[in-house]
Parts: sequence; C-alpha cells; structure tokens
Amino acid sequence: MEKIAFSAELAKIHESELDPHEKSMLAEAVRQMDMAYAPYSHFFVGAAVLMENGNIHGGCNQENASYPLCMCGERVALYHATISDPGVRIKALAITARGTKKGLNRPVFPCGACRQVIHEYERRNKHSIALYFRTEDGDVYISENGSQLLPFGFDESFLLD
Ligand code: THU
Repeated sequence: MEKIAFSAELAKIHESELDPHEKSMLAEAVRQMDMAYAPYSHFFVGAAVLMENGNIHGGCNQENASYPLCMCGERVALYHATISDPGVRIKALAITARGTKKGLNRPVFPCGACRQVIHEYERRNKHSIALYFRTEDGDVYISENGSQLLPFGFDESFLLD
C-alpha cells in the first residue's frame, strides 16, 4: 500500500520583530477584535488583510441569534478586502482572538470553512496568502500559505475543464 503524507510548517516570531506593514496589519486585527459582535459565544475574532498595494482591510465575527448565520472574522475581512480593492492581490491575513476561556495564549486557527475560502482566494489570485496568527502575548505564528492548512482541499479543478 502506498501512503501519502502531508505536513505543515509554521514560523514563530514576536510582533515587535515584524516590519511596519505587518505590524499595521496586526494592529488592525487587534482593533477589529474589539469591534466583534459576539454576544452569544463571547469569542471575539479580529482579522485584517494586507493587500499588495499596502492597503489594510479588517473584519470581525458577526453573530446572529439564529446561530448558523454567524460569520467568521476571517471571511468578513477577506470579503471586505476583495470588494474594497478589486483586482489587487491579497498578500497576507492576520488573525487574533480572545474568549472567556482563561489563558488562551495560543494561536487561533481558522475553521474549515474559512480555510476553504482562503484556498479559493489563493487560486483566484494565483498566489499564496501568508497567514499570521497572533497570541495574547504578541507571539506571531506564520504560515507561508493557507493551502497547507487544507490538505485534500476542494477546488475548481473538480468542476471545470
Ligand atoms: N469564529 C471566527 O470568527 N473564526 C474562526 O476561525 C472560528 C470561529 C467565530 C464564529 C463565532 O462567532 C465564534 O467565533 C465562536 O465560534
């Protein structure tokens, strides 16, 4: 039997060591976290997208009393970015979160649906999107792309010639 393995690699750095564009993206993600609408889960997710032209667009989770309608912060930020700067390549996405759980001092990774959306944008852009995960202590874990977080992902090649 043949076995097929996938692996993922993250770099770890402190936010103080990032370049000014990366720092601004992280700062926007933190600002967005404080604007999240999360009265049900009390889990506040802030995200920010850095564009190739240097623009930054934020997003935060938007909950609803009809729970399945809740929208993740990552997707709000990505959709915000793509309609604000049409045709401009997305360079990076930063994510940070806090909830009621004490000591959640670790990176919060995107849910499966958000990974699928990130994957679509990478294919649409024909370029990878770097993901920055910021912990409460300001440590930042970086994935060079989103696709490594979605092994065996679904894409247009299953649908189109
Ligand atoms: N949430 C996000 O915004 N991003 C994720 O990647 C995971 C979950 C939100 C959805 C919901 O508002 C709350 O966090 C709890 O699941």
